[in-house]
Amino acid sequence: MQIDPKALRAAFSQFMTGVTVVTARSPGGDLIGFTANSFTSVSLDPPLLLVCPGRHLSSFDAFARAEHFAVSVLAEGQEHVSNLFAKSGTDRFAQADYDLDPNGAALISGRAAGFSCQTFQRVPAGDHMLLIGQITGFDKQPLPPLGYCPDGYFSLSKERQADAASASRKETIASVILRQGQNLLLDANGHLPSTQVGETAGARSALRGFLDGLGIEAHLGPVYSIYDETAGLRRKVLLGRVSEKAPTAPLQPHPISKTASLRQPTDALNVMLARFAAEHQSQSFGLYIGDAQQGEIHLLDKD
Ligand SMILES: Cc1cc2nc3c(=O)[nH]c(=O)nc-3n(C[C@H](O)[C@H](O)[C@H](O)COP(=O)(O)O)c2cc1C
Repeated sequence: MQIDPKALRAAFSQFMTGVTVVTARSPGGDLIGFTANSFTSVSLDPPLLLVCPGRHLSSFDAFARAEHFAVSVLAEGQEHVSNLFAKSGTDRFAQADYDLDPNGAALISGRAAGFSCQTFQRVPAGDHMLLIGQITGFDKQPLPPLGYCPDGYFSLSKERQADAASASRKETIASVILRQGQNLLLDANGHLPSTQVGETAGARSALRGFLDGLGIEAHLGPVYSIYDETAGLRRKVLLGRVSEKAPTAPLQPHPISKTASLRQPTDALNVMLARFAAEHQSQSFGLYIGDAQQGEIHLLDKD
């Protein structure tokens, strides 16, 4: 079978993970670090973990030689730290808060957990390396961890909070901001695909059933907005994605850059779409919880 690396990467990314920042010192003593979701717990006795630095990293050779390294498991709200340590060409440590562990490696402040390691084994593996560390110290904080899935970061506790709030409502309409490349997929009226949520099913499964019924193969991502349209009507909006070549009929593609020309059935949806278009430009998405007039935005993903 011919393996398409892009398709394989997409299949790998169906495995939801947390996010870590892996740090060490270069041979010259500089702090180095990168964002990694390849973290795996390996053994309790001896205590071992592994991460997989890629050969593409500017710090690869330094990690391949490091005798010590540290892993910080990021907490909810640390999307910006993940983005910082994934972005090339920035002075990462000038912009991050951290402490030094006894081995001199940086542990990110506000983390959900931290592990200090002595390098135990290095296993070259294709375009990555398995870097196995023996844990010399660790901590666990009472903070919920940050999640990562194909549609970006997610925060389970915020989604649960939002679900609990919406469970107290009688009627809910679920809508999806469905992206395909640089387009939004809309129904024949130019509206976001939307469906009524039954009493027992959640918004996600209602949308899943609705899109399946249309024959649209979509990946549903994080909750984007939850608000009360009227006293008895709640709107829950999810982000979703359809892969580039997948058929989209009966939905119609519309450029995200031209969302300003769209008219949704309510003003609140127009405002939300304008927010989405702006956030799409900066790739910094927030979760909105409130009512049609005012609410709170919790950052999902900040670049
Ligand atoms: C959520 C997430 C997880 C990542 N996981 C890994 C990983 O496990 N291994 C890896 O080599 N790169 C991973 N990367 C990419 C690196 O963080 C990125 O290529 C690196 O920071 C670039 O550093 P450089 O500019 O020093 O080369 C990940 C990026 C993100 C956003």
